[in-house]
Amino acid sequence: MTTVSTNAPAAPGQEDFVRLFSTLGKWALVTGGATGIGRMIASALARSGANVIIASRKESACRQAAEEIAAEAPTGALFAIGADVGTKEGVADLCEKVAALTDGLDILVNNSGKTWGAPFESFPYEAWQSVLSVNLTAPFALTQGLLPLLRRNAQPDDPARIINIGSMVGTQPIAEDAYSYAASKAALHHLTRIMAHELAGSSITVNAIAPGVFESRMSAYVTQDEDRLDRVESKIPLGRLGNAADLAGLVHMLCGRGGAYMTGAILNLDGGLGIVPPASIFS
Ligand SMILES: NC(=O)c1ccc[n+]([C@@H]2O[C@H](COP(=O)([O-])OP(=O)(O)OC[C@H]3O[C@@H](n4cnc5c(N)ncnc54)[C@H](OP(=O)(O)O)[C@@H]3O)[C@@H](O)[C@H]2O)c1
Repeated sequence: MTTVSTNAPAAPGQEDFVRLFSTLGKWALVTGGATGIGRMIASALARSGANVIIASRKESACRQAAEEIAAEAPTGALFAIGADVGTKEGVADLCEKVAALTDGLDILVNNSGKTWGAPFESFPYEAWQSVLSVNLTAPFALTQGLLPLLRRNAQPDDPARIINIGSMVGTQPIAEDAYSYAASKAALHHLTRIMAHELAGSSITVNAIAPGVFESRMSAYVTQDEDRLDRVESKIPLGRLGNAADLAGLVHMLCGRGGAYMTGAILNLDGGLGIVPPASIFS
């Protein structure tokens, strides 16, 4: 019989394993972190030890989310900032407020997003600018504005991390009436690779997560309609929507020691939607 001791000190391998997925003591900013995917990411980062700043236009919603996540007793602390990343002034304001909280930033999650749906013929001109401002211009401008803080915490063996939240529709030519949204996400994936190359020399990694369908305000038109939800789930190869644990796993890997050598990747998190072959042409 083999006796396995339960109170032996952790072997170095075990410590390494925890460190691979830990964000202990790191500072993270999650835009749009009060709701949906951003909130799932903010909660995951706080649980793995990061001090998390949640920012979006509605400061009260950010404060409430920060309080609710804090009540889950995570290791990291939570902060809330109200700012509109859809404008030049709003981005500058957010950068200033972040700098007032911390001298350095380890993790930037560009998650804030908006969409607009209308038929091709009547798709409003203004819907291009407003969607692109939040989904594409903001990740670029925020990265620019926060670069001094990101550089301060970036180290060759533990780079600062930027995660852009793209979308499955950024990799496949599907718009479903959301023309500017799909184009903004495709452009964000492209920008992710460009920024990854640009910032690698500063020890900053840039990757994108391309989610499939997750429950949120933005996807409520699917998740709150039973028939539509059944139809959507039947098309997802793994047979279900994505959830908080799916996001947490990937975010912990990307932001802990485990993700230090990965940059410029567009990571599908979509239950296999991205590998569904096109409808057969010949049969
Ligand atoms: N849910 C999905 O299935 C899915 C799939 C693929 C990709 N995504 C992407 O995931 C990200 C999060 O979306 P979600 O699905 O979680 O929807 P959501 O709950 O509606 O989240 C969008 C967030 O963006 C914030 N936001 C919108 N405009 C803003 C602005 N001008 N300035 C600052 N913050 C702003 C909103 O907060 P305020 O209203 O307080 O500003 C909100 O917290 C988006 O980039 C979306 O494109 C979602």
